[in-house]
Amino acid sequence: MKSIICLGIESSCDETSAALVDSDRNILSHIIYSQIPEHKKYGGVVPELAARAHILAIDEVVQKALDEAGKTVEDIDVIAATAGPGLIGGVIVGWEFAVGLAQATGKPLVAVNHLEGHALVPRLTNDMEFPYLLLLASGGHSQILLVKGVGDYELIGQTLDDSAGEAFDKVSKMLGLGYPGGPVVDARAVAGNPMVFKFPRPLCDKPGCDFSFSGIKTAARTFLQNNKSEINDAFINDFCASFQAAVVDVVINRLHNALKDERVITAAPKALVVAGGVAKNSAIRSALEKMAAENNMQYGAPPLNLCTDNGAMIAWAGIENYNLGRVVTEPVAPRPRWPLTEL
Ligand code: KG4
Ligand code: ZN
Repeated sequence: MKSIICLGIESSCDETSAALVDSDRNILSHIIYSQIPEHKKYGGVVPELAARAHILAIDEVVQKALDEAGKTVEDIDVIAATAGPGLIGGVIVGWEFAVGLAQATGKPLVAVNHLEGHALVPRLTNDMEFPYLLLLASGGHSQILLVKGVGDYELIGQTLDDSAGEAFDKVSKMLGLGYPGGPVVDARAVAGNPMVFKFPRPLCDKPGCDFSFSGIKTAARTFLQNNKSEINDAFINDFCASFQAAVVDVVINRLHNALKDERVITAAPKALVVAGGVAKNSAIRSALEKMAAENNMQYGAPPLNLCTDNGAMIAWAGIENYNLGRVVTEPVAPRPRWPLTEL
């Protein structure tokens, strides 16, 4: 089959990104313009600022992606962009840019679900076969999914309150470590002792595969209020290590239950995969790798730069959908909410 090239555009949160990926799994170019410096002083993403920053960046980011690959618009076979879920102001910018480009060039257009981008990227980088059991953990979502095929997802468990990424971000904010919280808490945890603070492990004594992280966050706030005078570098390292250990324990406990779930047993996934921004976490990656080995499963995690939001995952999801004929034939409205189970 002739190799095709897809331009992927991502703009659902605080990264404006574009990439050219081909159907032989080559990333021909990849540009990520991160807005983190613009949001840092507010301690989180400000949707209005994000939308404006996407508008200012999108032309240049797409042009750079073409230049880096040594291609022109004419060389592209398919255009794909995130059509949701996400911060709607940003999604509209990337999506409408893609619609305009598709209309002007006559190229086919794919409306990519951002979560599907995260869910399928292990097939770009690790050649993962369906079905696989996926922990999808990002700033906006925490879910355990059975990935049965393109557009075919079964929700096995999900968070009842905060996402894992939110828990990292909020704890980081409490400690004054800034935004995004995940990378800095992860780095601090490496130097700390996870046994010092006894964080709760919500729901771990209960059956089922749903998560809860808000109890861990509340415990963090209470510990900090009660120990204000003792906060120093060593305290912060131990605190981050103890918090992270609780998150890992919750995730592993829920995944163990998922492996015993009837639906999962029936599908018999051969691989355990982690994706989304939190998949960058060193402790989560090694715990999942160990769990996969213990259960004779293959382990898959995208390289670190493809865990957080990026255009390459959107381009790849674009190719997978295009191969199944899932192209846009009538106007698509960008969606702030768009569960994977509604594809
Ligand atoms: O997937 P993503 O880029 O954006 C969403 O779709 O939400 O995920 C961003 C989230 C943030 O909450 C960030 O703190 C978290 O991923 N994150 C991490 C790490 N790196 C990023 N969480 C834990 N450990 C990390 N090393
Ligand atoms: Zn994401």
